[in-house]
Amino acid sequence: MRVTLSVIKADVGGYVGHSSMHEALIERATEVLAEARDRGLVYDFRVLNVGDDLELIMTHGRGADNPEIHGLAWKAFEAATEVAKGLKLYGAGQDLLSDAFSGNVRGMGPGCAEMTFEERRSEPVIVFMADKTSAGSAFNLPLYRMFADPFNTAGLVISEALNSGFNFEVHDVLEHRKIIFSCPEELYGLLAFIGSPLRYAVKAVYSRGTGEVAAVTSTERLSLIAGRYVGKDDPVMIVRAQGEFPAVGEVLEAFSHPHLVEGWMRGSHHGPLMPVGFKDARCTRFDGPPRLVAAGFQVSEGRLIGPVDLFGDPAFDKARELALTVADYIRRHGPFEPHRLPMEEMEYTTLPKLMQKLRDRWLPIEAPVPTGGF
Ligand code: F6R
Ligand code: MG
Ligand code: MG
Repeated sequence: MRVTLSVIKADVGGYVGHSSMHEALIERATEVLAEARDRGLVYDFRVLNVGDDLELIMTHGRGADNPEIHGLAWKAFEAATEVAKGLKLYGAGQDLLSDAFSGNVRGMGPGCAEMTFEERRSEPVIVFMADKTSAGSAFNLPLYRMFADPFNTAGLVISEALNSGFNFEVHDVLEHRKIIFSCPEELYGLLAFIGSPLRYAVKAVYSRGTGEVAAVTSTERLSLIAGRYVGKDDPVMIVRAQGEFPAVGEVLEAFSHPHLVEGWMRGSHHGPLMPVGFKDARCTRFDGPPRLVAAGFQVSEGRLIGPVDLFGDPAFDKARELALTVADYIRRHGPFEPHRLPMEEMEYTTLPKLMQKLRDRWLPIEAPVPTGGF
């Protein structure tokens, strides 16, 4: 059976502030999607959240970028926005950048990761959802680990099904172009780009053996779309596991090291990406630290069997502890880089507006220092 798995997300109102999600939004979005399931538009769905982001996970038979599926997601976000407005939740409707839906959520605020595949005899998939960070930042390094690093993924070395390698599709989000790296041969070239994750984001990974899609991420950059600071992209990613792909445990292992990502408070700081269980998907300290949840499903004839809360496990306690230690350490830098993002990235925050105010105060180095107050 051919199935499309679409994960479409948006922040349509936070509770409290930007920290978490009110249950009423999940309930409202669930009503909208249940109605669509009843009339056969989607096979199945789940509505989850990470922090203040509402996550619609849908299976259907209509392929990626389908106007009806995107329209359904938009409708669910609009309905949830109405609820958010009614409760005066924070930033109600924040990520819906336009009033007029035009057939596809891409470029309109929500983030989107979709993949279509012929269901295997058994189809384990993992949906990763992050808050207070961006796609390249959250997923480039772990995707490299999963699909290219034998120190992470034993199967690359010892399983025939994996050792033909993987193709990485990398997007240049500033120039709107892409490049494919064929690994392991082109590992160094791949790393030369994806090591700069704010510009170069891994969009998808494919098995070289079968050509099958292995992973897809959302690479929408809210600030580039809106032309101003709106909040972080808070990306999602779908990864298929087992057989010709890394095992579930190899996929998850890539997050056992809480690497530094951009985002956190005011989208302006580096901090560790902390893998958490569903019950801890709530951004508190300094609006973070950036968080990641992993929902595991078996896809069965288009139905979603799950989710299993894959990071809700003591095996990730050490990663969380390290994340908290790193958070403590880096927080002591206050407004200094490298905790705060470099100047070029601050362009996409609220800082430039403030700097405008001081524009006329600059003097040539040679000028005498003015006396008195300002
Ligand atoms: C980061 C984020 C929050 C807000 C912060 C200020 O992605 O959403 O850290 O930037 O809480 O929010 P405002 O400006 O809405 O008061
Ligand atoms: Mg928010
Ligand atoms: Mg968010």
